[in-house]
Amino acid sequence: MKEAGINCATLAVFAWARLEPEEGVYEFDWLEDIINTLYENGIHTILATPTGAMPRWLTDKYEEVRKVDRNGVRRIHGNRHNFCPSSPVMREKAYMLDEKLSERFGKHPGVAAWHISNEYAGDNHESDCHCPLCQKAFQEWLKERYGTIDALNHAWWTDFWSNHINDWEEIHSPVPYGEENLKGLILDWKRFTSDRLLNFCEGEIAAVRKYSDQPMVCNLMGFFRPMNYFKWAKSLDIVSLDNYPFWHSERDENVLAGEAAAIFDLMRSLKHQPFLIMESVPSSVNWAPRCILKRPGMLELSSMQMIAHGSESVQYFQWRKGRGSAEKYHGAVIDHKNGGNTRTYREVAALGERLSKLPSDLLSSFNQARIAIVYDWENCWAVENAEAVLNPFSCYKRWLVYYRALRSFGVNIDIIDMESSLEGYDAVIAPLNYMYRGDYMERVKQYTEKGGTYVTTYWSGEVDDSDLCFTGSHPLREMLGVRHEETDVRPLWQENHVLYQGKAYEIRDICAVVHEESAEVLGTYEQDYYQGMPAVTMNRYGEGNAYLIAAECGEDFMKAVFSDIFNRLSIHNPLTNEVPYGVEVTERTTEDGRSYVFAMNFNREPLKMEISQPYRDVETGEEFSDHLTLARWQCRVLQKKEF
Ligand code: GAL
Repeated sequence: MKEAGINCATLAVFAWARLEPEEGVYEFDWLEDIINTLYENGIHTILATPTGAMPRWLTDKYEEVRKVDRNGVRRIHGNRHNFCPSSPVMREKAYMLDEKLSERFGKHPGVAAWHISNEYAGDNHESDCHCPLCQKAFQEWLKERYGTIDALNHAWWTDFWSNHINDWEEIHSPVPYGEENLKGLILDWKRFTSDRLLNFCEGEIAAVRKYSDQPMVCNLMGFFRPMNYFKWAKSLDIVSLDNYPFWHSERDENVLAGEAAAIFDLMRSLKHQPFLIMESVPSSVNWAPRCILKRPGMLELSSMQMIAHGSESVQYFQWRKGRGSAEKYHGAVIDHKNGGNTRTYREVAALGERLSKLPSDLLSSFNQARIAIVYDWENCWAVENAEAVLNPFSCYKRWLVYYRALRSFGVNIDIIDMESSLEGYDAVIAPLNYMYRGDYMERVKQYTEKGGTYVTTYWSGEVDDSDLCFTGSHPLREMLGVRHEETDVRPLWQENHVLYQGKAYEIRDICAVVHEESAEVLGTYEQDYYQGMPAVTMNRYGEGNAYLIAAECGEDFMKAVFSDIFNRLSIHNPLTNEVPYGVEVTERTTEDGRSYVFAMNFNREPLKMEISQPYRDVETGEEFSDHLTLARWQCRVLQKKEF
């Protein structure tokens, strides 16, 4: 491990059956031996609470800990991440074990942080438990949210299809053999499911906190749909990520690089602080459709990309491949054979060495962003559940097109939700803001009035928190300076375009039909009954500008629109005026204002790009005055020459 440059290890993630082999019998000595050995060798431990998988004595003796799935079937023992979060027994047993672990190791100098459980709700994507205890908890949650049954009936619009609810106890979670159409019920069940598991996690944190001051970390899964990570992040000290792109599964590495970048930016933005990579694979996962090994060089580039976006660690799942069971062929630093004499091991060791030599103040630096893009979990739940326009509807995939277009400019981007502050951003990009939650709408108006640039799209401003449609007019009508009339979807057999700055851009799917009032029309529809009507508008509002992109086109169109907006706001890439295709640029700035620029080439070919000022490679010392060279899959860490 030392040779491989490893200075931190996560332990005991699923070790419940070993740590508590019988109810109330704790065996921690073996764990202490490992923690001590690591510590004596300069390796810190991130110690897990082992609640991600339940031991058999627990599931056998206490039926209630096993969750009931959406078909009403109570699970038998097996798998992981599948306990009932409402079960008092589960809470009692898990928290007791957590407390005991913390009592024993909470002050151990080798324990650097706590890894609470594992990927809550991971694996099966059916994170909800439908048991009677969860039904009761849901009813209580709803009481708290709505106060009166009348308020709930109104919010859920229950007169439709005779859904009127008389008593809280009549409410049941949405299931295929029961109610599956009441939109408000479905949305609230998603909110509840995320809150319920978070509430369980908070219990674990409180138990560990009794004896330890070390940071509490959960390993999150990027844009994992069932859990609202913006809410989760508030309860965590540090955000960490398990990151598994299927490298080389696409002909073009840039596709996956863009998605990975979005995930890293999200992780950093959740707490607006650096994050950790808790898991990544040195070679390949065992669960992909095609388990392609990372080609030489990709481990280094993909790991540097994590640092470039604000991570402070590169950790692997896993150190050594197990000989048996579920993940025996999952990539690891050490394989079943050949010890350290493998390509993968050598690449890990080389990366370890590179990381250890990076300038030390990089660790006190942060990716400052002038631009934010809104991604809101509740909004995505609601828009995917809308049953309108396009069915099914992937909020994330459509949102990602906007992110990619922004990313192509090589400037830092924060990802915020509707509760996040808008202050300090020069531009807020808000695609597919179907739901306006809480005071978001008011804050958007204030932000724009005070000089911000707000860019929104079709299929925005449709419903309130309860998924009830706004009536009368679009809530931001005055600010956008347009009147929304209807939302169309392009028939597949018919092409249509947006005409913008003398070019025609193909429309993918959605076309909002709007009429300009005070707004300036920047782009128009080429065809159909809305030919000549506005497709892109800008409205002056107070000191700021509000844009509406009414039609859904591809990345090239968004780039054209964003390029004009960025020029107007003087938002420029720190390195170059034109970021070549496949190159990613990010910037981390230290507390005293020193900036590190990361330039990454995801193309399979080397390239030479123009740069707007002289830079020096802080690792190799090479100097570049007007051109920068990047080898295939190279990441350079650069500083302006004057430093
Ligand atoms: C993660 C999980 C690990 C391991 C890994 C395999 O999601 O936390 O325990 O299963 O995936 O890729």
